Amino acid sequence: MRKKNKELQQIKILHKEAVKVLKNAYSPYSKKRVGSSLITEKGHIFSGCNIENASYGGTVCAERVAIFKAVSETAMKQIRHIVVVTEEKKPWTPCGFCRQVIAEFGHPTKTQIHIANREKIVETFSLGELLPEAFQKSDLK
Ligand code: THU
Repeated sequence: MRKKNKELQQIKILHKEAVKVLKNAYSPYSKKRVGSSLITEKGHIFSGCNIENASYGGTVCAERVAIFKAVSETAMKQIRHIVVVTEEKKPWTPCGFCRQVIAEFGHPTKTQIHIANREKIVETFSLGELLPEAFQKSDLK
């Protein structure tokens, strides 16, 4: 299979997986369900849903749940694609915290962020488009 076709197939699988975990969202406060699924540079796939907390501040977004699973299970270094599914009319882009965490494990042009509803991916951005001039680990050297 050609590289482009293979990537399109992978993105389709990520969308399906992100939709699958929507039902697990723990969101008694906002009542908003979010699902996310990513593929790492090594081809591993991880998914996550949003997990809210009575303290509100302890809430973790779906994207970060998927990312933290990927890091703790496979020592993931780089996200290739990450899909975010919501049930909103206008699909949500990742929040600022999530953009910063994606940047920690991403590349400005190689990491692609796909926002979607249950039916399909609606828009795709590079990490650099969503978080230009990111503060990053190289700044700490
Ligand atoms: N949420 C996500 O899971 N991802 C985002 O990118 C935006 C917000 C969740 C957090 C909270 O549970 C609910 O959506 C409302 O903010």
